[in-house]
Amino acid sequence: MEMRFVSTGSYLPEQVVDNDFLSRIVDTSDEWISSRTGIRQRRVVTAGEGTACMAAKAATKAITRAGIDPQDIDLILVATMSPDNYLPNTACEVQAEIGAVNAVCYDLSAACTGFIYALNTAYAFIKAGIYKTVLIIGSEVLSKMLDWNDRSTCVLFGDGAGAAIVQATDIGLFESILGSDGKRKDALTCASRYIVNPLVSKAISLSDKESLDYVRMEGQEVFKFVVKTIPGTIQQVIEKAGCTKEEIRYYVLHQANQRILESVAKKLKEPIEKFPMNLDKYGNTSSASIPILLDKMNKKNKLNRGDKIILSGFGGGLTWGTTLIEW
Ligand code: ACO
Repeated sequence: MEMRFVSTGSYLPEQVVDNDFLSRIVDTSDEWISSRTGIRQRRVVTAGEGTACMAAKAATKAITRAGIDPQDIDLILVATMSPDNYLPNTACEVQAEIGAVNAVCYDLSAACTGFIYALNTAYAFIKAGIYKTVLIIGSEVLSKMLDWNDRSTCVLFGDGAGAAIVQATDIGLFESILGSDGKRKDALTCASRYIVNPLVSKAISLSDKESLDYVRMEGQEVFKFVVKTIPGTIQQVIEKAGCTKEEIRYYVLHQANQRILESVAKKLKEPIEKFPMNLDKYGNTSSASIPILLDKMNKKNKLNRGDKIILSGFGGGLTWGTTLIEW
């Protein structure tokens, strides 16, 4: 069995936060942010909006567009590093909301590579003949994990959700390279709750931090890691598939930073026009960025059956994944 994309959907919160707003709360400027990152604005949830509700809205659009019955969905995978709760998982909340009563539901945490890992998990189940229809979602409320006094991180991220429905099919193309390097885990971190119980006299933070932790990033380390690792994985995946880079219609990369995408394009000697971007509007939405971008392209009829597309994600862990698909 092979796998193909059937439809996409996305949801972005209505609240727009532009660079000028940020320059009023931290020592930054539109010029600094847009020239270093390409980001001009991002969406941020309002009270009452969360990871599960955005995920369900994106999923509903994908289901409607696919014209399938939610009861036909076998598996719901939600890639997120910002779930609303420890319990239940986000996928179960989505299931309840959309009425996918026959689905098995779980979340997957791999930061900005989450959607690519989830896509590969869906492929493994479909290839093995276990499931036929899978709903994959990336959804993040990163705004709650940010220190809004830290100009080096709060300007980079945004909230949003993207979804895709994939199904078993007879003919298709799918090649991947996935990787992780836990030794470099400290490049991107956000510590969780402390251990507090009647048996410990003092709350113990695993990160040795005194107060609640927020996203911390060694920006230049992450930049170097991506530019060193991702072009090689793209070349290898294209070779594994027996294709040439001339056959690749689009490189849909995680929307972290315009300069990263330009560096990858330069290393591959491919025109930047083959690297669609929307980070100027939405910032870095982590696991949601690839499905949001796919959905925006799909809505503009930019994706045609038979198009060969590279999808590539990279981020905390460190984690990375590059997949070649045929639309
Ligand atoms: N506004 C103004 N000045 C700033 C800001 C800001 N928002 N942020 C940092 N600065 C200052 C720093 O304080 C520093 O000042 P100093 O020289 O007086 O010490 C100066 O700008 C340079 O700081 P750097 O961190 O060296 O800036 P750099 O050129 O590396 O740009 C950036 C930072 C944009 C984060 C860059 O490193 C980058 O793009 N890294 C990749 C990070 C990324 O994309 N992460 C996401 C991928 S992984 C994931 O998605 C989870």
